[in-house]
Amino acid sequence: MLKLPINCDRQPYLFVLIIQTIVGAPFFPSPPFVIKKMLTLADVNSDSVVYDLGCGDGSIIVAAARDFNAKKAVGIEQNQRLCAIALAKTRRLKNAHVVNANYDTVDLSEANIVTIYQSARENARLKRKFLNELPENSTIVSHDFGIPGWRPKLFHTFKEGRHGYRIIVYVIGSHTPS
Ligand SMILES: C[S@@+](CC[C@H](N)C(=O)[O-])C[C@H]1O[C@@H](n2cnc3c(N)ncnc32)[C@H](O)[C@@H]1O
Repeated sequence: MLKLPINCDRQPYLFVLIIQTIVGAPFFPSPPFVIKKMLTLADVNSDSVVYDLGCGDGSIIVAAARDFNAKKAVGIEQNQRLCAIALAKTRRLKNAHVVNANYDTVDLSEANIVTIYQSARENARLKRKFLNELPENSTIVSHDFGIPGWRPKLFHTFKEGRHGYRIIVYVIGSHTPS
C-alpha cells in the first residue's frame, strides 16, 4: 500500500504531491486543521504580529492574515520555489509578507507570536535566538516537536482520522529557562 507522507491525510494529497514535485524535495506542510488549531491556541487576533519560521508554501501566514485578521503575518522561507508559491498565495493580502531568507538572519523582535514546524534539535538550537530577540510574553506555537528543556504553557494533542497531532505552546518568560 502507498504510504502517504506524514500529516498529509486530509491535506489534498495531490496538492502536496504537486508542491513536492515543484520544490524537488520532500515538503511536509501543516494540514489546514492543524494550522487553525495552532493559531487558535496562540490566540492570534488583530493585535498579533505572527512570524512563521520556515513558512513553506505560506499556508500559516495566509490563515493568520486572512482568517485571523492578524495585524501582520511574516513568513520566512529559505527555499526559493516554496517562497514563490507563498508569495503568489499572499499577493492580495496587505498584512502578509514573505521573506526569502535563512531565518537565522532575520530579527524577530517585532513578533509577538512565532509559529514553528521544525525538528526538536532545530527547536533547541533556536532557543538562544528566541530568548535574545522575542519580547517578554511572546508566544511560540510548535507543531509536533517541543522545545527541549522548556516547560510548555499548553500541550495539546488530538486525533484526526488515524493520525495523532501535537501542538505545543510556550510563552517567553516564566516558562522558558535559559
Ligand atoms: C516542515 S516545513 C513547515 C512549513 C510550514 N511552516 C507549515 O507548518 O506548513 C519546514 C520548512 O522550514 C524551511 N526551513 C528549514 N530551515 C530553514 C531556515 N534555516 N530558514 C528558512 N527556512 C527554513 C524548510 O524549507 C521548510 O519549508
